Amino acid sequence: MKEVPGSYGLPVVGAQKDNLDFLHLQGEVEFFKSRVARYNSTVFKVNFIPGNPAFPDPRGIALLDQSSFPVLLDSSKVDKTNVFTGSYKASDDFTGGYRVLSYLDTTDPKHATLKNFAFEVLKRNGRKFLPEFQSAFHAAFDAAESELSSGKNKADMAPLLNQLAFQFLAKSIVNVDPLTTMLADQGPTHLLRWIGIQFAPVAPGNSTPLPGFAEDVVIRTAPLPFLLVKADYDKLCEFFQLAAEMLDMGEKEFGLSREEAVHQLLFLVGMNSWFGFSARVLPNLLYRVGTLGAEFQKRLGDEIRAAIDVGDPAGSFYGALEKMPLLKSTVLEVFRFDPPVLYQYGRPREDMVVESHDAKFVIKKGQLLGGSQALVCRDPKVFEEPDQLIPDRFVGKEELQANVFWSNGRNTKSPTADDKQCAGKNFVETIARFYLVQLFARYKTFELSEDSTLNTPFLKPFARN
Ligand code: HEM
Repeated sequence: MKEVPGSYGLPVVGAQKDNLDFLHLQGEVEFFKSRVARYNSTVFKVNFIPGNPAFPDPRGIALLDQSSFPVLLDSSKVDKTNVFTGSYKASDDFTGGYRVLSYLDTTDPKHATLKNFAFEVLKRNGRKFLPEFQSAFHAAFDAAESELSSGKNKADMAPLLNQLAFQFLAKSIVNVDPLTTMLADQGPTHLLRWIGIQFAPVAPGNSTPLPGFAEDVVIRTAPLPFLLVKADYDKLCEFFQLAAEMLDMGEKEFGLSREEAVHQLLFLVGMNSWFGFSARVLPNLLYRVGTLGAEFQKRLGDEIRAAIDVGDPAGSFYGALEKMPLLKSTVLEVFRFDPPVLYQYGRPREDMVVESHDAKFVIKKGQLLGGSQALVCRDPKVFEEPDQLIPDRFVGKEELQANVFWSNGRNTKSPTADDKQCAGKNFVETIARFYLVQLFARYKTFELSEDSTLNTPFLKPFARN
């Protein structure tokens, strides 16, 4: 049994130093890796962001291996009240004065109600998602092709993927085409502003065009006020009020007031779902499959085209799933390689013992525990060549899939009303797979320009299938 190694440094200054290293000097991965080496331990004390005294106490304990991290998934051991983004919690002003599901612990009676509401939102609209995704996908890639044929040498996919994600989610769940409403094509713009200001204090370093010091002053000195994005949020609320069927369900079957149902639905669709797809899942997959090159793309494309009906991907997808093991493995490997949400937090309900691969630590009730998926999903004791993107990695390896935690749960498990696993876990995997199916139903191979990054892929001209 060991004392947790590490130090918080001097009050205030220690947190500033850790934050500076994390955000600007070392970066999020090197920050943790260098401390693992320094303390010779994957569990240690650290100041998380935001460390400015205007925010709650940032002192916590990092859990960075596959032995210690899973304690964060155990609802009987950790309390998840208000720790969705660590010690910082955005004001409820951003969500109409209501505390949304992501901040509720499983012991809160409203947690199960709202989680079941989330499950029903997905279930009731189940049949619409694939056709709506298919049509939004083609609209986005038609737009990319028309940019390329108008003489541009690359198409910026980020805004197109933002629109794709919003169109398919809104049309399926709200049951109205945003383009025909006062929102027009501005849904993603309003969402980006609302999310950007709300989560600014926990944004990664270099999230703004400002130099590091100025960025810290502007977005990390104190929480930013809701007023800055009230106009954006009001427009989004107006649109989500059109989701009559979902709001009726919230009222009649889950006992929510209509007003609360609007705000909970908006966070579920606009933050949990839209942000996950537009900022992470869709660009990351395009980027990583792009970097895997033409030979791999041909192999994956051949598997897909042999399994589905290329003229009707939406209609033939579910029947073909079991014939596409490489597709499933590729999606999971990209999620392992670039976990779309990097951090999970929790506070022990009681004093407890946490085991890393090589030591045991007593951890006190209420201390902030934080896991970084960037390290946990590349734990060399579990994954061979952890820093290599190996698309076949999970083919035939059911046991290994349990070690991928992108959804705040083991990948072999589905979410329930009693845990904090992502309510959309299976849905996200389905859409991610369907996205690659669409891509390879449309193209044999594709190329990205050299200045592409994980979050902003640029497509180069390509030949249609
Ligand atoms: C929670 C990731 C999409 C609904 C979470 C958590 C993660 C996550 C990591 C756990 C956060 C925590 O407590 O530490 C993602 C990613 C998505 C995605 C990467 C990619 C698109 C969705 C979708 C839904 C959804 C489509 C729609 C139902 C939720 C809900 C929670 C949650 C309701 C809170 C669960 C609870 O409090 O029990 N998500 N999610 N997510 N996600 Fe997702």
